[in-house]
Amino acid sequence: MSTATPMDSRPLKSLDEWDDFLEGRYQEGKTDEQFRQYDATANPGVAQFYRLNHEHQSVDYVLGKEQQYFGLTRGRKTIWEAAEFLNTLVDDSDPDTDLTQIEHLLQTSEAMRRDGQPRWMVLTGLIHDLGKCLCLYGEPQWGVVGDTFPVGCAWSDTIVFPEYFQNNPDAKNPLYQTKYGIYEANCGLENLHMAFGHDGYIAEVMKPYLRDEALYMLRFHSFYPWHSHGAYTHLTNDKDRAMLEWVKKFNPYDLYSKGHAKPDMKQLKPYYDDLFSEFLPEKVAW
Ligand SMILES: [Fe+2]
Ligand SMILES: [Fe+2]
Repeated sequence: MSTATPMDSRPLKSLDEWDDFLEGRYQEGKTDEQFRQYDATANPGVAQFYRLNHEHQSVDYVLGKEQQYFGLTRGRKTIWEAAEFLNTLVDDSDPDTDLTQIEHLLQTSEAMRRDGQPRWMVLTGLIHDLGKCLCLYGEPQWGVVGDTFPVGCAWSDTIVFPEYFQNNPDAKNPLYQTKYGIYEANCGLENLHMAFGHDGYIAEVMKPYLRDEALYMLRFHSFYPWHSHGAYTHLTNDKDRAMLEWVKKFNPYDLYSKGHAKPDMKQLKPYYDDLFSEFLPEKVAW
């Protein structure tokens, strides 16, 4: 019998390794053909991460996690408290060169601010990855980050490493393997059960406070099969089609805002204090 190694359960050196993989995948100018040329041997950690993700994100798993987290019973925190909490995430990232979680968030929101995007969008940029605190609640890497997709219906072949779905228990359920599965045609993305992770969680936290455009950016920012490959349109409705342009507008800031100078927290804090108080109560339920 073999014993589990960290590579089995925590295949990524840090959660950022997944973000870096995405950035490489969607490098500007890449053709669809080139996009498909990632292979497991080139990046065994990332491949193992997707293997675990695709094997475990099943209907039963997702319904269980929604039940566990969407009631928001983990206390109330300010946005700064939530960001500080996320920063306590210790993984194997390099403290000298890698950005902290707060720095990634500030770089995303500051890039939006420089471009003159609306204030609600700047706020959305700042909070979009706060759901990664799921890791600190003990959730595995593959249940916190990763491209998302609906469960309970056939998997799109635009999902990376689709071959890893063969060991997902839903592969044996004929209903879940049909085009519409447990859903109605054009029922709307908000009515789907998405692979569980940081996107769905932060969207639930912010649901009482932010406009639909912001909630779509939060809930679907890792839904690459839809926003970047045009898959699952048989499940979308008019609202989804209207929101898609905003999700697409958000995506480059998430992918490509790295590499600018490290944001100066002290100097930026008053602007964000003001922004939070415009849209949010002092503390929100997590
Ligand atoms: Fe994210
Ligand atoms: Fe992000």
